Amino acid sequence: MKVTVITGSPHKKGTSALLADEFIRGVQDAGWETFRFDAAFEQVSPCLGCDRCGIGAAPCVQKDAMQTLLPELLSSQAVALVTPLYYFGFSAQIKRVIDRFYACSYKLTGKKKVFLMATAYDRNSWTMEALTAHYKTLARYMQWKDSGMVLAVGCGARADIERSSFPEEAYQLGRSL
Ligand SMILES: Cc1cc2nc3c(=O)[nH]c(=O)nc-3n(C[C@H](O)[C@H](O)[C@H](O)COP(=O)(O)O)c2cc1C
Repeated sequence: MKVTVITGSPHKKGTSALLADEFIRGVQDAGWETFRFDAAFEQVSPCLGCDRCGIGAAPCVQKDAMQTLLPELLSSQAVALVTPLYYFGFSAQIKRVIDRFYACSYKLTGKKKVFLMATAYDRNSWTMEALTAHYKTLARYMQWKDSGMVLAVGCGARADIERSSFPEEAYQLGRSL
């Protein structure tokens, strides 16, 4: 059993990277395999919207790191999306990857668990509202089962998250598999 973990931060040692690290540690302790794709450090172009893939009938015309990611995703039973909050949504780095699911949409649909982990500077009651609405709608469309979220509000810097309980929450979420 395998989980693909897709991260969206340009900070290798940032707040969301810590959640990804802890989640992966939990997943591995649960005996699952992991594949990590750090979108900010991979060559992934935005979807051209050319429709030459016919939403999955033919391969994407763009040849980039999605060619590595998609086979891993297709053979995974779970997907974790890990992002810093950027203007109340996914970072562009990870959104680029999500948009490229288009060329494989039908094959990716169904029979997967999905997790969301996100970090943000703010800690308002509504800070994560738009992101979680997007995530839940994506999960619904893809017919993936939302299997848990870690929403690390008030974590604008590494020191904030290190003294919070969110890394432990991420570990337990991974361990829950
Ligand atoms: C472009 C950009 C947009 C951001 N937008 C938000 C936001 O809408 N709300 C918020 O609370 N924090 C926002 N932040 C702060 C980050 O979410 C926060 O610092 C987070 O911990 C960064 O995660 P990372 O260390 O994994 O990159 C933003 C930061 C950047 C660089």
